[in-house]
Amino acid sequence: MEATWLDLGPVTQIEPGMAATLPVIGGEEIAVFHTTRGEFYALVNKCPHKQGPLSQGIVHGDSVTCPLHSWRISLKSGQVLGGDEGCVPTIPLKVDCGRIYLLRESVVGKRAA
Ligand code: FES
Repeated sequence: MEATWLDLGPVTQIEPGMAATLPVIGGEEIAVFHTTRGEFYALVNKCPHKQGPLSQGIVHGDSVTCPLHSWRISLKSGQVLGGDEGCVPTIPLKVDCGRIYLLRESVVGKRAA
């Protein structure tokens, strides 16, 4: 079956170094990050430590620092960096013609099974 993508709108809605959140009905909130290098990543918006909202963290390079207790998380892999342990689910994302898309299956797949 061919992949289908959810259109989140233009890339200009998220400033570099910032994140936006996307509530998914029946699922986890998703955070979409725009790095200062111009890359976009999507993660479930929950720190693996104590569920801190990663969308409110500080983005630097391709990682984000959790606003609650400063764990650092890779935006590429969702892996916790720097000696702490844990992982956040990543959501496949693509940018096409200046718009952001998330893989619909992985968003829908986050619904309570
Ligand atoms: S909740 Fe993120 S570091 Fe504690």
